[in-house]
Amino acid sequence: MGSETKSVEWLREEINKLKKEKNALVMAHYYQREEIQEIADFIGDSLALARQAAKTDADIIVMCGVHFMGETAKILCPEKKVLIPDTKAGCSLADSCDPVEFKEFVDSHPGHTVISYVNTSAAVKALTDIVVTSGNARQIVEKLPEDEKIIFGPDRNLGEYINSVTGRNMLLWKGACHVHDRFSLKKIIEMKKEHPDAKILVHPECRRPLQLIADKVGSTAALLDFAQKDDSKEYIVVTESGILFEMRNKCPQKTFLAAPAEDSECQCNECDFMKINTLQKVYECLRDETPEIIMEKEIAEKAVKPIQRMLEMSN
Ligand code: 13P
Ligand code: SF4
Repeated sequence: MGSETKSVEWLREEINKLKKEKNALVMAHYYQREEIQEIADFIGDSLALARQAAKTDADIIVMCGVHFMGETAKILCPEKKVLIPDTKAGCSLADSCDPVEFKEFVDSHPGHTVISYVNTSAAVKALTDIVVTSGNARQIVEKLPEDEKIIFGPDRNLGEYINSVTGRNMLLWKGACHVHDRFSLKKIIEMKKEHPDAKILVHPECRRPLQLIADKVGSTAALLDFAQKDDSKEYIVVTESGILFEMRNKCPQKTFLAAPAEDSECQCNECDFMKINTLQKVYECLRDETPEIIMEKEIAEKAVKPIQRMLEMSN
């Protein structure tokens, strides 16, 4: 069922009414549009969204993020209705890991523990021993015996970062996120010259040279936390620019500068998949209770184990 476009105020009011009527929880990733973060009951990074989904007593979850986030919520809460505003909200990183090819890679390296980043399809999670997010990957890898042979997929930049901080030599799948992989080292160094006191905050999905010039490497939640506790006044933020909204909310007295991508004229770097969700779509999906995440039972039953292992191993 379609709808004419309504004002932001009208949509906010209707979404709030529907949330109450249907006992629905609206969750949003930090990369969502500001107006979606504003109406969400919960905003967070991938780890916080998974944790919150696992413990909510809502009947309906509206996951404003990308498809794998909705899938993760559904895998953790199979009895709940999990809605996503737009099924086209995919993820280039998840797409860089085809389950058939990943299985061949895993099968050709027997004796390895398979760790997959949460940015993967349920089919890849079903081939995995432990799922991680950027917020707990280091902690989980460090809990494994030092001589454990590990395959890490699909993000090679996060994998290189974890190898460098843990001294491990995990075998890496060569996937990447099209947003984080295209930040420009040159442009960020130029920005740093113009803002010499600004600290550089880098997501570990960015390439290694950017990780090396960072004052802090971390998940979106870790970068936000650093900015809140640190005593600097200015930051260059090298991740999807949606996080700047919550950084500015939490630290109104500080200046946050979005880092630009290599090939863009624009002063920031946005994920088209994340930005495909709009307030109008959130309203319509809550009103019509569609699109809903529907999972194949067999895949979901396999994929839940490595996600639960992640939740048990990280605190
Ligand atoms: P985090 O939420 O773990 O920081 O990951 C960022 C991301 O790319 C989500 O798609
Ligand atoms: Fe996927 Fe990258 Fe977009 Fe995150 S920012 S959803 S990893 S494409």
